[in-house]
Amino acid sequence: MVVRPDVLFNHCYGNYAIAAINVFTLEQVLGVFRAAGVSRSPVIIQTTPVAREYASPTVLTAMIGAAAQFYPEVVFALHLDHGNESHITEALQYGKYSSVMIDASHDPIEQNIVRTRKMVSMAHERGVFVEAELGVLSGVEDQVAVAESESTYTRPEDAAYFVEQTGCDSLAIAVGTSHGAYKFSGDQGIRFDILRDIQQRLPGFPLVLHGGSSVNPDELARINQAGGRMRQGARGVSDEEILQATAYGICKVNVATDLRVLWTRVHREFFAMHPEQFDPIVPGRMYVAELEKLCIEKFEKLGAAGKA
Ligand code: G3H
Ligand code: 13P
Ligand code: NA
Ligand code: ZN
Repeated sequence: MVVRPDVLFNHCYGNYAIAAINVFTLEQVLGVFRAAGVSRSPVIIQTTPVAREYASPTVLTAMIGAAAQFYPEVVFALHLDHGNESHITEALQYGKYSSVMIDASHDPIEQNIVRTRKMVSMAHERGVFVEAELGVLSGVEDQVAVAESESTYTRPEDAAYFVEQTGCDSLAIAVGTSHGAYKFSGDQGIRFDILRDIQQRLPGFPLVLHGGSSVNPDELARINQAGGRMRQGARGVSDEEILQATAYGICKVNVATDLRVLWTRVHREFFAMHPEQFDPIVPGRMYVAELEKLCIEKFEKLGAAGKA
């Protein structure tokens, strides 16, 4: 059953969080739906513009729609991740998304407000929920250490003003996480001082954590053992950080990298151990099963298991 995220957020705020999982393949759709069904966890299924371009919006949303019919017990929101005006227009015409993100976070705040407000009124006309973003994710990403300058974090004093000016329904904030497999090095981590300040200025308002993957070091080691070359040493978001963030109003935790890392580990190990194999169904089955396990663990850690 497709629901709007606010149905989920009204229930979880302050107590647990909803995993928002990026999908773009059949195996990922199957793994996430099975996990959500088995553990009775509400979930947000999300698709990036890259995923929509890869599979085509028609095929991608049809695949998700078919899974929803096949697993009717699964309670989920369908969300467009990191959209711009044209992605959102297209997603709204499509009529399947219950939620969209307008990501104008790289623009100056006044321009971000103008662009976000426009998308909010367009989406709200159709009853669709809108996530917006304020602040630019920073951290260690793709070999580049983004300068730890305060200006990349969401300024708490801007957050309430931004929400009031735009009418957005949830807010993605930059509190130290980044996209990808290399988030924190040394003793870096989520800036809870900033997060707490934002929550105090927006009490009860759902906050969103991008870059929420945990990036299991054992998985990176296994990938490298099987011939990969993932850089080790950096870390993702820890379970303790997730728990604390939830207490401070984070309702949605975005996860994409963990699925990619898992895919790479399963397939590298499989083909290293079975060099004679060439049937995609064999490792495909393994990936679906492993992904189901990973998602169930995530739902449990977020406190969402049993809540659907
Ligand atoms: O937040 C965005 C994702 O991690 C990037 O995913 O490669 O499908 O755009 P993408
Ligand atoms: P990760 O790279 O940590 O999986 O973050 C995903 C994300 O924020 C998608 O919007
Ligand atoms: Na999003
Ligand atoms: Zn993101």
